[in-house]
Amino acid sequence: MNTIIKKVNYDNPEESILEEASNFIKNNEVVAFPTETVYGLGANALDENSVLKIFEAKARPSDNPLIVHISKIKQLNDLVCEIPPIAHKLMDKFWPGALTIIFKKKELVPDITTAGRDSVAIRMPSHNIALKFIEKCNVPIAAPSANSFSKPSPTIAKHVYEDLNGKIPFIIDGGNCNIGLESTIIDLTQEKPMILRPGGITIEEIENVIGKVELHKSVLNPKEKVDIAKAPGMKYKHYSPNATVILIENSTIDKIIKRNKNKKIGIISLNKNLQINNAKIEKMELLNSINNLSHDIFKLFREMDDHNIELIIVDKIPSKDLGISILNRVKKAATHIE
Ligand code: TXA
Ligand code: MG
Repeated sequence: MNTIIKKVNYDNPEESILEEASNFIKNNEVVAFPTETVYGLGANALDENSVLKIFEAKARPSDNPLIVHISKIKQLNDLVCEIPPIAHKLMDKFWPGALTIIFKKKELVPDITTAGRDSVAIRMPSHNIALKFIEKCNVPIAAPSANSFSKPSPTIAKHVYEDLNGKIPFIIDGGNCNIGLESTIIDLTQEKPMILRPGGITIEEIENVIGKVELHKSVLNPKEKVDIAKAPGMKYKHYSPNATVILIENSTIDKIIKRNKNKKIGIISLNKNLQINNAKIEKMELLNSINNLSHDIFKLFREMDDHNIELIIVDKIPSKDLGISILNRVKKAATHIE
């Protein structure tokens, strides 16, 4: 299959290109599109054959449900049975934006989209191109991140092309994704609201609106065995570069370098003044804020692979705000934490 890739202007998305892209969706095909979090691989969420193509292109296990993207609140009524008051509060504050909410689903949403669950994950992205594209499609759009299964999520169109060239017909190139990490997922189908995945909206921001929420135990221990009925995405290896990843918690970079002298090493750190003596470091990435780290982490993983780095050392990350979301992704990618 030939993969078409077209640049679209953020502020004034070209009508003709969105039309072209939405025609693929209308013909039961998939289209990759930018959002403020990461690129998504979209298809008509209400059509089984279309959704099947998402799973095939990504080689995604069929037991991992998809997020359904909408462009207007009124689309929600067709998809979910009830909207709890707490959901209204969250939607008022964070939609459009990087928050995915899990509701009890209506019959209309096919099993393939929710992997047979009676709940459905819904998000209204804030990215201008994403919103206009979904509106043009005139159907809710199921979309996982547009990477091959287990690869780091794509934050520029080139990443999507590298993973899915020849497997999907169309990529909308909207440049860089602002946030760089996926949306935060909150489950409102249980008695108490529970965060299943920390992401672009922080837990602190959510608690400011609805009070204390529970954190699924896999959030900071993502390698722990989980009940997949509740947190289906958590059992898979994710976000992994080819290189081995070590996350520093208590150890020091020097110690790890000493043990790995013969390897090609890359370092990612929030310490702007970090200096390494007596060792050759292939790629040193020093970021000056947690926001920049969130924006770049997946991109850096991919770049390190392009440089054939064998070991990526990720320096300490503070466990608050967006740091929690970044830690969750790095812990999933890491072979060990020291
Ligand atoms: O930012 C994002 O959320 C991006 C962009 C494209 O919107 N999408 C994304 O999708 O990250 P994906 O498929 O990579 O991650 C979706 C997560 C998975 O962990 C999945 O298990 C979970 O959402 N999920 C989806 N439906 C669910 C449900 N009904 N119950 C529990 N978890 C669900
Ligand atoms: Mg993903």
